[in-house]
Amino acid sequence: METLTGMERTHHCGEIRKSDVGAQVQLAGWVSRRRDHGGLIFVDMRDRSGLVQIVFDGSTEGLDFSKAETLRNEFVIGVRGKVRARSEDTVNPKMATGEVEILVEELRVLNKAKTPPFYIQDGVDVDENVRLRYRYLDLRRPEMQQNIILRHRVTKIMRDYLDENGFLEIETPMLCRSTPEGARDFLVPSRVNPGQFYALPQSPQIFKQLLMVSGFEKYFQIVRCFRDEDLRADRQPEFTQLDIETSFLNQNQILTLMEGLVKKIFETTLDVKVETPFLRMSWDEAMTRFGSDKPDLRFGMELQDISEFVKGSDFKVFNSVLENGGQVKVIRVDDYADIPRRELDGLVEYVKIYGAKGLAWIQYSKDGIKSPFKKFYSDETFEQIKQATGCKTGDLLLVVGDKASVVAQALGELRLEMARRRNLIDPNKLCFLWVVDFPMFEYVEEDKRYKAMHHPFTAPREEDIDLLLTAPEKVKANAYDIVLNGVEVGGGSLRIYRSDLQEKVFEAIGLTHEEAHAKFGFLMDAFEYGTPPHGGIAFGLDRLVMLMAQRKSIRDVIAFPKTQSAIDPMSHAPSEVDEKQLRELSIKTAVKKKVAPQS
Ligand code: AMO
Ligand code: AMP
Repeated sequence: METLTGMERTHHCGEIRKSDVGAQVQLAGWVSRRRDHGGLIFVDMRDRSGLVQIVFDGSTEGLDFSKAETLRNEFVIGVRGKVRARSEDTVNPKMATGEVEILVEELRVLNKAKTPPFYIQDGVDVDENVRLRYRYLDLRRPEMQQNIILRHRVTKIMRDYLDENGFLEIETPMLCRSTPEGARDFLVPSRVNPGQFYALPQSPQIFKQLLMVSGFEKYFQIVRCFRDEDLRADRQPEFTQLDIETSFLNQNQILTLMEGLVKKIFETTLDVKVETPFLRMSWDEAMTRFGSDKPDLRFGMELQDISEFVKGSDFKVFNSVLENGGQVKVIRVDDYADIPRRELDGLVEYVKIYGAKGLAWIQYSKDGIKSPFKKFYSDETFEQIKQATGCKTGDLLLVVGDKASVVAQALGELRLEMARRRNLIDPNKLCFLWVVDFPMFEYVEEDKRYKAMHHPFTAPREEDIDLLLTAPEKVKANAYDIVLNGVEVGGGSLRIYRSDLQEKVFEAIGLTHEEAHAKFGFLMDAFEYGTPPHGGIAFGLDRLVMLMAQRKSIRDVIAFPKTQSAIDPMSHAPSEVDEKQLRELSIKTAVKKKVAPQS
């Protein structure tokens, strides 16, 4: 008769220490690795808390040793045994439980397992598609468990902090009305209203503002958002926001409250000190100095303007750029004047991805100056540029001339790339930053109109309101982004709370009075019934946890993410559906059904 059920655990595997030596323990978990030495079998046993070595000794009284011989990786077992100290030469300093082992007196095999498609251990080198196909096994790996546990702890602290500060967690609908602006919607057909569609929320923006109209004053929600965008390492079609809105707080009060939250999250979960207040930098300054609205401040290599030195020469490239109101800027790469020519050629291609027409350089090498535009300028000019950019002999300048937006993007990206190549980024550094004073609008060449840079409910700066319809490009918004190590981890704004101003902003982005009312009438109506001044922010939870876990992709901190092509290789979503389902929804697809191969 087996007495051990595996359900009466006394300890977790990863928690057993030297102080437990002599104790009788019962454990349950998985076989992580086994080594068979004839009469002795060693098994690393794993549960959520970690690993511990257990030992089956053929001479142990009452132990059914033959059962131990059947164990394979990933079998689920329950064991009873005694903790003993490992002899000095067998201590494993890499394991938290490396000083002890369990001499097993009773074993129960709770379940068998097929050989998994990859080892259940950290740092496995497997194709991500295979990991996602067997996500339940991938998630069994200790590092993935740590990521998901960290995510839980972060959301727990968010809830606690916001609760302590008077915020209420309120849910908002998932089946919403499709509204213009923003990214592409995911649509859900309505069966009971044929031909009509809900949209999944891109964010709870309008609802949280309506909750302010309702007088809740302080709202938050940890909420799924859906955006049908092209995916990248830090973008998923469904992702999670910590969404926040408050009434009667000014911008500074909101930022300060959020700094307190971020500080608490990092200090509690990672035990790292976070200095507040965070640096605040205007959007203009960020673009000028770093060529990015989310600058990575862990290293320098700022953009510097050399237009004044290179203007009025015979070099056509720079001349035409400057005559057309553009600029010529550089980044300085220290001690890299001897960059191989092949790498320079590669960098030319690199900046072209970001819209630059070309890339030039100045190599201040020991044996003289090398530059594609050397013959157009005097030695004196090169010396002036050297001085102005703080170059020393041995340094390299990479040069882009174009209109300001192209220079910013190309050099901003090149700055990041060179920092990676030259190993200038300290992965343990945390550089928080608020980017503030965003432009209210950006001009969309394709549509020949202005679009709200954040969203159209963002309040313009009071002093710029008069420019809304006359010079929209000059209007700055009360909008802010929180940036950590070059990643936008959150963004928000103070909101418009008067319907006349809201209407003016809709007009500036080309929505007529009728269109605005057709799409957003309910919000405009609400603004007529006593709306408090309000504002808020949303953090990208996945991105924040990704950075905290020092991961390169948000997929590593989401239990069941989608691939870059927006599919789930495990459940095979999305999939075709039955004709009948489509008929019920009054939907016909224009895509031909895949024909099953003839057998
Ligand atoms: P925003 O669109 O800037 O603002 O989104 C807020 C934060 O959400 C994260 N994020 C994403 N994370 C993963 N995948 C995506 N596809 C994705 N898109 C955005 C980013 C971003 O900073 N309603 C406003 C907030 C407000 O004004 O209060 C909003 O959604 O980290
Ligand atoms: P081209 O006239 O296109 O042959 O360019 C001559 C040189 O000018 C090239 O070798 C590049 O080094 C440089 N160049 C071209 N376009 C740019 C640009 N937009 N910014 C900086 N340098 C450029």
